[in-house]
Amino acid sequence: MTKLKQDYKFRQIMDVIVNMIKNEILSPGDKVPSLRKMSEDQGVSISTVMQAYMELESVGMIEARPQSGFYISKADIGPREQITRTKPSQEPVQVTKSEHVTTILEAMIDPDVIPLGCAIPSSDLLPHKELTNIMKKVLNMENTDLMEYGDTQGAKFFRQQIAYYMNMNGNSVHADNIIATNGAAEGMSLALRALTSPGDLVLMESPSYFGFMHLLETSKVFAMELPTCPEDGVDIDDLYQACKRYGVKAFLTQPNFGNPLGHSYPEEAKKEIVDICSRFNVPIIEDDINGDFALYGKRGSNLKKYDKDGNVIHISSFSKTLSSGMRIGWLEAGRYFDKIMKQKIASSLASNVITQLTFAHYLASGKYPRHLRKLNNSIKHHVESYTLKVLKYFPEGTRVSAPDGGFVLWVELPEHIDTNDIFHEALSNKISFTPGSIFSTQEKYNNCMRLNCGYPLDERIEKGIAKLGELCRAKV
Ligand SMILES: Cc1ncc(COP(=O)(O)O)c(C=O)c1O
Repeated sequence: MTKLKQDYKFRQIMDVIVNMIKNEILSPGDKVPSLRKMSEDQGVSISTVMQAYMELESVGMIEARPQSGFYISKADIGPREQITRTKPSQEPVQVTKSEHVTTILEAMIDPDVIPLGCAIPSSDLLPHKELTNIMKKVLNMENTDLMEYGDTQGAKFFRQQIAYYMNMNGNSVHADNIIATNGAAEGMSLALRALTSPGDLVLMESPSYFGFMHLLETSKVFAMELPTCPEDGVDIDDLYQACKRYGVKAFLTQPNFGNPLGHSYPEEAKKEIVDICSRFNVPIIEDDINGDFALYGKRGSNLKKYDKDGNVIHISSFSKTLSSGMRIGWLEAGRYFDKIMKQKIASSLASNVITQLTFAHYLASGKYPRHLRKLNNSIKHHVESYTLKVLKYFPEGTRVSAPDGGFVLWVELPEHIDTNDIFHEALSNKISFTPGSIFSTQEKYNNCMRLNCGYPLDERIEKGIAKLGELCRAKV
């Protein structure tokens, strides 16, 4: 078949779907005819139908759901009041939040609670069978090296696969500058300890991931939160002033789909941040753990892409997209390689070789991009449906974030509602969520909560959201 004819055929299939939507034969949430049915009805090959469906998927008109087929995308949630720029007090503070964080985390562990607390996708969305098969093959290689510590820096094959993946994402990095870590958490810890001594000052977004609180507190450093806006990210002028005014030792940031706001910084802002920090010699610790969760198109670039003098330490892991239990992450050390390697030896000597190689073979199989597309389609659907439920059940005046990535929602309730109180009431009703107060070093965000959208919205989850809404409305 000539290329022209093939183009014509797949556009014809796209038109069929578009017309069905226009004429209300298919509505948001409806299943699109299967590949086989469409191919038989239209007299075209399955691959032509697939091509048409993938085109429609790329413009957000339809979405693939794992093991189920294609569906018409849900209707727009519509305009609503947005979360605005945050206003933390810009003072260096000693961090004393880790006890509070620990109490909250321990309370959420109960497997019987409705899982709106911990930020994790349902394991049904992750390729555990494929990973298990690969791990079996790795073990069957009967390589006795697998039973030893392995290279402190990480298995070469793993580092090569990470370098390939990072270069595909627009960064220019070499496998020799990558260090395997025990999850992103160890990466953050190695970087911070390599860069700071007790009493030093570290900058961060506000709100910031609560895991940083433990890290900052145990490192005995001071933290200063910067105003942050869901659309534009951290306030660039405030970052500039802080770098200029104080002898800052590191800037801890999540420029892509940060937890909890789900924002992605504009490209211009990313370049400016790298320039400012380079100018004032403030090392950047870039946490990209949610970077692959682009719900509406391509993932954003990393700060690493704009790093010309090795001032960015880039950290990530596959804990959210593949497996958190395998405990493997990595960092690209920039010019701080030697200092970080020293910390790695002190911290854990080496990372698990078997799980590194399992991830490496999975990446080499080429299946990761397709898995991400499917995962993100499901998560997008979850985030949108959870948002609708929060808007339905929560009190008037509630604002909900509109994340363009990641799988959590940030909910801002009327000012006087304290989600720390609601947390305990919710737990006694077997519902978890994360109170906003643990996302700040200060007494802030007490009227906020973070909701995990990693699980499909079934009847049980909807009941959980409805009950949370009821508990909040009782405080109005
Ligand atoms: C923003 C962020 N950074 C780091 C981590 C830690 O990731 P890992 O499980 O790879 O150590 C998490 C886990 O929830 C996270 O949300």
